[in-house]
Amino acid sequence: MKVHIETDRLILRDIETYDAAGMFQLDSNPEVHEFLGKKPIKTIEETRKMIDSVRNQYLRNGIGRWAIIDKKTADFIGWTGLKYEEGLRKEFNYYDLGYRLRSEYWGKGIATEAALASLKYGFEKLNLKEIGAAADINHIVSNKILRKIGLKFIETFEYDSALHNWYKIEKAEWINSKNKH
Ligand SMILES: CC(C)(COP(=O)(O)OP(=O)(O)OC[C@H]1O[C@@H](n2cnc3c(N)ncnc32)[C@H](O)[C@@H]1OP(=O)(O)O)[C@@H](O)C(=O)NCCC(=O)NCCS
Repeated sequence: MKVHIETDRLILRDIETYDAAGMFQLDSNPEVHEFLGKKPIKTIEETRKMIDSVRNQYLRNGIGRWAIIDKKTADFIGWTGLKYEEGLRKEFNYYDLGYRLRSEYWGKGIATEAALASLKYGFEKLNLKEIGAAADINHIVSNKILRKIGLKFIETFEYDSALHNWYKIEKAEWINSKNKH
């Protein structure tokens, strides 16, 4: 089990096969999938495949989404982090920032805390030049988070029959914006 980051309230670590129950709770909830194509999963088998896919990305790309664990209770909150995204934009691949939390944990600033830590890791540890992110144009909360943490809106694009906003932040912009947090 590999811990990558500790924040005030959270541990960000590799997703493990034993996270299947928590991941299933997360992805079987229709509320969680409201802006993710409205296709919540139905079986734990689907969760296991997702975990295998993430763990393969750790090996293949050196990075993939991480589990967010509550430091106090050790509960599985959800996931965050960076993914080398090869399927979202037709024209290019990029390092994508994302987050997905179990609904019990919404509204406490956890996604913001986890996302800021992920950006720091991407620029300081992975030495990335830029990080991108996407959110359905109607997803008020996610668009708010991305802007708040310093990403700049670039354009809209269509994915899965829905319009999405695409954002990015370059390392120099991040260095400037981090002085504000
Ligand atoms: C999107 C998601 C990760 C947000 O997590 P969270 O921990 O609740 O987010 P935070 O608490 O860090 O930040 C939410 C911000 O939106 C604000 N907000 C919440 N509801 C809002 C609303 N209806 N309208 C406007 N702003 C709202 C909060 O006040 C907060 O802003 P602030 O820090 O300026 O006060 C969570 O809702 C989730 O997991 N959703 C399902 C998966 C998903 O959609 N992932 C993103 C895909 S792009």
